[in-house]
Amino acid sequence: MRRKIVAGNWKMNGSQGLVEDLVGYVRSQVSSLDNGVEAVIIPPALYVRDVQSLAGEQVAVGVQNVARWEAGAYTGEVSAAMARDCGCRYSLVGHSERRQLFGETDAVVAEKVVQLLSQDLIAIVCVGETLAEREAGQAQEVVAAQVKKGLAGVSGSAWRNIVVAYEPVWAIGTGKTATADDAQTMHRSIRDVLEALGAPADEISLLYGGSVKADNAAALFAGPDVDGGLIGGASLVAKDFMSICQAMPADAES
Ligand code: 13P
Repeated sequence: MRRKIVAGNWKMNGSQGLVEDLVGYVRSQVSSLDNGVEAVIIPPALYVRDVQSLAGEQVAVGVQNVARWEAGAYTGEVSAAMARDCGCRYSLVGHSERRQLFGETDAVVAEKVVQLLSQDLIAIVCVGETLAEREAGQAQEVVAAQVKKGLAGVSGSAWRNIVVAYEPVWAIGTGKTATADDAQTMHRSIRDVLEALGAPADEISLLYGGSVKADNAAALFAGPDVDGGLIGGASLVAKDFMSICQAMPADAES
């Protein structure tokens, strides 16, 4: 059975004040989450320890990025082993902002995935096409290539630690979302690619990200191949984040 996941990627936002507010609110509301969703809080790495008290059956903590190396003289980097040591269960990999602003290639994504799997962490591998690629009719081909190359080092039982997040670049932080049909179509196509790679495709959770808000989450999450969401801006507002967690249908085909 696939996990249902709603992950909040704070990006480079937040403060100790925000952490306190969010932790307090999530703690007070989490017991009302009765749809089996796992809420994953992904703050900047400096705040990981501050949200760790929420971690439990329904809440997990993650990092936004890890190094592609194991350990050593890599000033400024955080390793997968450190993320695990500090109680994280998840890490994002290959977010489009990392790809665009930090030159992260599919080969680097693949190396980071291998680091995460070596620590038994769950990699949320982010993929998505630009507007130009969508308008040129290349969206599925671009996303398929990202999935294949980013997951090149995965085999056997390691697939159980893979989650794929489809985040069309043109929908991130823009207020534009894919239609629920487009999201479902792309998720189905990603699942087909996973199947062709020999992965247990029906067991792998696929998340949609890009301007998911409390008022559009239910429609986006309704697709049978949409197993949750990766939320940016709205995850900084505790009430909105919890509403989005609640929007995941309890009886989804998963
Ligand atoms: P927004 O929800 O702010 O569009 O961000 C999506 C995202 O990039 C999450 O990783």
